[in-house]
Amino acid sequence: MGRILAIVSQKGGVGKTTTAVNLGAAFARRGLKTLIVDVDPQGSVRYGSGLKKGHKTYGFADYLNGTRPLRDVILPTSLPWLRVMLVGSVSEDADHTDYTNAIGEGDLLSKMLATAAERCDIVVVDTPPGLGAITRSALASSDRVLVPLQAEPLVLQTTPQIFRANQDVVSKHKKLTFDGILLTMYEAGNTACERTVKYVRANVPANLVFDITIPRSSAVSDAFAAGQPVVVRTPGDPAAQAYVNLATRLAERFAE
Ligand SMILES: Nc1ncnc2c1ncn2[C@@H]1O[C@H](COP(=O)(O)OP(=O)(O)OP(=O)(O)O)[C@@H](O)[C@H]1O
Ligand SMILES: [Mg+2]
Repeated sequence: MGRILAIVSQKGGVGKTTTAVNLGAAFARRGLKTLIVDVDPQGSVRYGSGLKKGHKTYGFADYLNGTRPLRDVILPTSLPWLRVMLVGSVSEDADHTDYTNAIGEGDLLSKMLATAAERCDIVVVDTPPGLGAITRSALASSDRVLVPLQAEPLVLQTTPQIFRANQDVVSKHKKLTFDGILLTMYEAGNTACERTVKYVRANVPANLVFDITIPRSSAVSDAFAAGQPVVVRTPGDPAAQAYVNLATRLAERFAE
């Protein structure tokens, strides 16, 4: 059985999708059969995961509403061991209520993730910001959770709150292991950023924060704009290397 790793955070724009696509690509590069699943109606995975040109745009929402079979919504990428399930047509809709309700009320998400875990080594789930119905359903079916936290001064006020909410969620799901907080978009030399990271490390137990930090790098957003994970497009970039190191760390843990 493969592992299901959910990427979750209450705050938006902290690097969840970037982390999901780059970890997914880094796992695949290690030869692990990997599936990235996007359940976020924003549908951002579509743009940065290295899908083949002219790929289909349907995805999980279309499986959920019965218009597509599962095999149709699993798409190939530029990496042989990496497949992607987009969120699908719901990303074109202004109203996501039906999609959200269908996830909350049914068990298709958990069944789909369980099937995926039978066939893959790792399933990485990218979730919408917040701990709403979609994220909670994803967590209920996951084995592991990783929480990106942007290294910025606002964190000083919100870390205790974020930490409590995480503990709350993890304690509700017996099989869920909290892998840790991942500090993202770190700028060395930026005093506010450095102070933030120091504060988080001083206030959160060391086993709950990765010592690997993801640096801010223009190569990350450039890669995304070019439709690729940075670990594929610019492997020598420090942020790419940090994601590769993180994937190594997690793969070792998952093998234990
Ligand atoms: N290490 C990094 N260096 C530079 N830019 C980054 C880095 N990580 C993420 N970004 C940029 O920050 C923005 C937000 O990242 P991302 O989309 O991954 O966040 P998110 O948590 O998934 O957002 P949302 O909550 O909207 O889903 C994007 O423009 C992304 O390219
Ligand atoms: Mg996102």
